[in-house]
Amino acid sequence: MDGNGRWAKARNRPRSFGHQAGLNALRVTIEHCARLGVETLTVFAFSSENWNRPASEVSRLMELFLKALSKEVAELHRNGICIRFIGDISAFNAAIREKMTEAEALTRDNQQMVTNVAVNYGGRWDIIQAARQLAELAIDGGLQPGDIDEDRFASALALADSTDPDLFIRTGGEIRISNFLLWQSAYTEFYFTPVLWPDFDVETLNQAIVDYQGRERRFGKTSTQLQEPAHA
Ligand code: FPP
Repeated sequence: MDGNGRWAKARNRPRSFGHQAGLNALRVTIEHCARLGVETLTVFAFSSENWNRPASEVSRLMELFLKALSKEVAELHRNGICIRFIGDISAFNAAIREKMTEAEALTRDNQQMVTNVAVNYGGRWDIIQAARQLAELAIDGGLQPGDIDEDRFASALALADSTDPDLFIRTGGEIRISNFLLWQSAYTEFYFTPVLWPDFDVETLNQAIVDYQGRERRFGKTSTQLQEPAHA
């Protein structure tokens, strides 16, 4: 969800104004994805590197997270959204951690759509925390190195319960992955748009999906193989 700061700057407003507008865009996006039947939506709200921003911006973002957790969760719950947080949440203050835990507990059985919110998340952090979990299991004798295959490794990652993403959308014009779902996006289709996140709306999302529908996902195979009947 990139571009909040530039969106605010263009309006001579503080960056926090852009983040507030970004929250509105997120609400619209979650509702639209749920209506479309998307099974899992994962949003990058705060990276491990975002702590390095000016203290005043970090502090306004924390206020916004707390406010959003207090005001938005009930409506998401009514709409059948299951909310999960991925990332090292131990770095957040107790009030935010408590609200995150409450939101996950309240919405855990909801079936309409899973929304993963990545906070203090980094793809490298995720891979390292998975490696540590497996190493500890191995030391305890519960795992042999030869037992570690892709499935076993993925089961220790933060998104173990979700399928790999089909479509990755980055707003704000940068063409990079910025340490998002490094492992999980091995075969994800990428879509980059110059639209700044606060301007992201139903129409922009639909455009991304139409673009995705035109892709040929070969997963290493040839086009001809994909056209052959499954039993051939
Ligand atoms: C990146 O834009 C955006 C962020 C670091 C914050 C994202 C947060 C929200 C959308 C707020 C709502 C989220 C939740 C979960 C309550 P940027 O600030 O890097 O923009 P710039 O590249 O234009 O400076």
